Amino acid sequence: MNSDSDLQIAGDILEVLHLLQPEREHPSTVADFTRLARTIAADRPRWEHLVRYDATTRWYHRLLTGPGYEVWLLSWLPGQTTGLHHHGPSSGVLTVLDGTLTERNAPSGPSGPSRRVLEPGAQRVFAPQHLHEIVNDSLEPAVSLHVYFPGLTEMPMHTSAPAAVAVARADA
Ligand SMILES: [Fe+2]
Repeated sequence: MNSDSDLQIAGDILEVLHLLQPEREHPSTVADFTRLARTIAADRPRWEHLVRYDATTRWYHRLLTGPGYEVWLLSWLPGQTTGLHHHGPSSGVLTVLDGTLTERNAPSGPSGPSRRVLEPGAQRVFAPQHLHEIVNDSLEPAVSLHVYFPGLTEMPMHTSAPAAVAVARADA
């Protein structure tokens, strides 16, 4: 019995060889990219010493590249925000490593305006052209990891504020 896992195999493992694909060298599916992000998130010595905070602009550092993807480390001081934007043809996985971030979606999106508070460990997968704003509206710094596939080539900004933003600001 393996005390490190609840996974147990019943029957003859040699009968399921067709399901045992060799591990790929590089991620290529959404599941692979979210797994890659979780693996990096759990490996704090790999990224923690690299983090910088910059009061004048959002700080970012390209942590890793591979065929068709790149991984960025970002820091967020309280109040720092992306503004409303999308990522062109790139899909992405956002993973919060430290602190709390808030994602606000555009009111014209398929699910309408929304606001999500993302705590450490939270992951958001977004499709190409997904319009959103990420902001640190907490009182503590935050760190996040962003995987883009394909690598980020553009990040067009939009000027109209999401309804969720407008609601939040009206409440402030
Ligand atoms: Fe984004």
